[in-house]
Amino acid sequence: MNKNDYIIRTEKETDYRETENLIRESFWNVYRPGCSEHYVMHVLRDDPAFIRELDFVMEKDGMMIGQNMFMKTIIEADDGRIIDVLTMGPICITPELKRKGYGKALLDYSLEKAAEMGFGAVLFEGNIDFYGKSGFDYASRFGIRYHDLPEDADASFFLCKELIPGYLDSITGVYQTPKGYYVSDEDTEAFDKNFPPKEKLKLPGQIFG
Ligand SMILES: CC(C)(COP(=O)(O)OP(=O)(O)OC[C@H]1O[C@@H](n2cnc3c(N)ncnc32)[C@H](O)[C@@H]1OP(=O)(O)O)[C@@H](O)C(=O)NCCC(=O)NCCS
Repeated sequence: MNKNDYIIRTEKETDYRETENLIRESFWNVYRPGCSEHYVMHVLRDDPAFIRELDFVMEKDGMMIGQNMFMKTIIEADDGRIIDVLTMGPICITPELKRKGYGKALLDYSLEKAAEMGFGAVLFEGNIDFYGKSGFDYASRFGIRYHDLPEDADASFFLCKELIPGYLDSITGVYQTPKGYYVSDEDTEAFDKNFPPKEKLKLPGQIFG
């Protein structure tokens, strides 16, 4: 990758199909046999929590190679306050161009834009090995708990980055995943029929059966 061989811009309505196909190709068989992220993206665009200004695609040589997006959500603070925060993703880079630095470039750009809009923090589920390079840490270090997770469960998948330094300083509480992320298998299956057939495989390392 070199710094000038890609562009990042907001997604247009005419991109929707291509974006969803890219997400499908990138997530297919990674976390489960098949994937649901392309359908999640399809659903979230119509959600009031979706942030159009933070819905990005990355292009190289006229081809879409990556995408990332953000949603508004909340932390229910232990002192009763509701704290506005962001959650993120799906984020992906086309499988042929993984591990060349494009993902980090897209992530850092989109975080910068979210900070410019004045948002205070981003929390979501991800791998610290990738997101740690862009300043994410375990959300537990900020005193934020993941909804519906038992106290003694491993929460190392749950990450946080402050966009305004100190934004979460005086806060402990529970993060809520926006409802729009929960899609049914049947709806996903029906939506997936709009795309070319693809084989679902059970592979080692998948976290969902
Ligand atoms: C995750 C994803 C967006 C990362 O994009 P990418 O372009 O491959 O990542 P980058 O090349 O920018 O990675 C930067 C660094 O992060 C780390 N990293 C990236 N992907 C990683 C992975 N899967 N496991 C461990 N570390 C990873 C590496 O240290 C990497 O640097 P290195 O290649 O020099 O070691 C991309 O691989 C992808 O689309 N994956 C499938 C979909 C997905 O899992 N999305 C994220 C859901 S939370």
